[in-house]
Amino acid sequence: MHKTREFHRQSIDDPDTFWRREAQRIHWETPFEQVLDYSNPPFARWFVGGRTNLCYNAIDRWLDTQADQPALIWVSTEVEQEIVYTRAELSREVNAAAAILKSLGVSRGDRVLIYLPMIPQAAFFMLASARIGAIHSVVFGGFAAHNLAQRIDGAQPKVVISTDAGSRGGKAIAYKPLLDQAMKQSKCAPEHVVIVDRGLIPYQAVAGRDLDYAQLRTRYLDVAVPVEWMESNDPSYVLYTSGTTGNPKGVQRDTGGYAVALCTSMDYIFGGKPGDVYFSASDIGWVVGHSYVIYGPLLNGQASVMYEGLPTRPDAAILWKIIEQYRVKALFCAPTAIRVLKKHDPALLTRHDLSCLDRIYLAGEPLDELTGRWISEALGKPVIDNYWQTETGWPILSAQPGVEEIELRFGSPSTPAYGFDVRVIDEVTGLDSGPNQKGVVAIQPPLPPGALSTIWDDDARFVHTYFESFPGRMLYSTFDWGLVDEDGYWYILGRTDDVINVAGHRLGTREIEESVNIHPAVAESAVVGVSDSTKGQVAMAFAVLRHPDDLLEAGASERLANEIKTIIEQRNGAVARPAQISFVNSLPKTRSGKVLRRAIVALCEGRDPGDLTTIEDPSALDQIRATL
Ligand code: PRX
Repeated sequence: MHKTREFHRQSIDDPDTFWRREAQRIHWETPFEQVLDYSNPPFARWFVGGRTNLCYNAIDRWLDTQADQPALIWVSTEVEQEIVYTRAELSREVNAAAAILKSLGVSRGDRVLIYLPMIPQAAFFMLASARIGAIHSVVFGGFAAHNLAQRIDGAQPKVVISTDAGSRGGKAIAYKPLLDQAMKQSKCAPEHVVIVDRGLIPYQAVAGRDLDYAQLRTRYLDVAVPVEWMESNDPSYVLYTSGTTGNPKGVQRDTGGYAVALCTSMDYIFGGKPGDVYFSASDIGWVVGHSYVIYGPLLNGQASVMYEGLPTRPDAAILWKIIEQYRVKALFCAPTAIRVLKKHDPALLTRHDLSCLDRIYLAGEPLDELTGRWISEALGKPVIDNYWQTETGWPILSAQPGVEEIELRFGSPSTPAYGFDVRVIDEVTGLDSGPNQKGVVAIQPPLPPGALSTIWDDDARFVHTYFESFPGRMLYSTFDWGLVDEDGYWYILGRTDDVINVAGHRLGTREIEESVNIHPAVAESAVVGVSDSTKGQVAMAFAVLRHPDDLLEAGASERLANEIKTIIEQRNGAVARPAQISFVNSLPKTRSGKVLRRAIVALCEGRDPGDLTTIEDPSALDQIRATL
């Protein structure tokens, strides 16, 4: 790990030299005057005075060398369609979208709200916004009208781009009625909505407000829209993310720092070179979609696969089929997707020729050791667990094969990425923890290029939420527990907000889950802390079996629960033994695959589960209720 350590050390000890060199990866219309202005902590301003543009760097810069090579590869198993856009074709579509925005009065600094499923127009309008210096706010398609209205009011957009419907598992998911409701609820509804009519559900256009994308596109196709040169610190987008309060925070990203950071990550972390094909199976509504479906690969001259569909339809080999067909070199997805595949026929894993694939990257939630090992061994590919947040925009912890190939350890997202001065901090003393000592994962500011520059419209909240957790020290808190072992490998042990305390013992629910998942019958599990009048809290476990039929045998459920309890006792001690272990068919999760722990806890404690707008399958909660 010597090279990785040395590379990291350079980035922390001499950020000026490090980032000045890396900044040469992108085009600057006007060179920057200063690498970093940190005169007003914790606000970091990168590449001050430099003028650049995300869209120019993602598209125009590559037109000389790659005009006819694939840039955006759209695959939809929902509507059974595939379209490959070359860089020149993408440029044409993005220019048309930019001309449409301009025709609607959008200019530099205005906001554009994008409420679309995984269709190419989402990419066109994100890049078009960037081209003309507008700030996009992409709202995840799974959100309900209330969430959408909240985000419209937050961004106060000049225009909204939406559609009639998305599709999931072959069924149309209405967008337009939710949009109409949100527009009514919102205090800042814009004058115009551009509708991409997919013909999935009939809808009524609102006269004077709703405009048809196809008609506008025909009118503006082949209009060349000049690039707006932005100061490096001008905002490029706002992306809302949930925290501990019910009021989501608008993570604000800059322009130049983001472009530079993403380019470096495509090379050092994802091992990508211009011309390579990259596939991130994430939704554009989440940060992974922003950084690694749209901007990262395109900025680095790579082609990006944009996938509309499930990982299991038409069958559980679809991801591998896409990889084979388009010669994908790196796959990025959430561990959940892999755990879903685990329940299917393993023969599907070897049906396709995956010789093109170098590595699999997993992030967004803890990757349990067994799942990591399972997929890595089944495919014979390295699996890189990488840890980061909406706020940071790119990995905080990850192996960096573009710097050095290191030994990967299951259960660990390896080591800090260059630029991130990551620490494990003792929550009580605020001091750095020693090897193998659990603490809060924190980052010594300044945050590197690409991380959030502030919270939209709320600098005070930015400082207060992230930088005031530790006594006497201004450190960015990730709100995750972690530790570093004596070899320098990092481990993430769950959110600080999910920690449970059983009879005075602090336990990470994640650690107990690992133990539950070790049982060969278990596919995945959720462990939560539930209040208990004697012990403060007790753990409760909900497990999904790989073969639900296992439960049909008489006494099976009791036997399995006892076996799991024994494993937990052996690995985490008796104090961690759950008060109840129940078996369910699925866990309540958000569409992005995060287990809705707070909702489970609320049910277990006999409370109202609260806001469930992001839930994937509401019946999962009913099953939990039934076990209590
Ligand atoms: O708790 C950590 C978990 O997901 C949180 C951030 O989620 P989000 O803002 O949606 O960004 C996802 C970007 C990939 C973190 O605070 N998390 C993310 N990656 C990992 C993880 N937990 C464990 N291991 C990871 N690799």
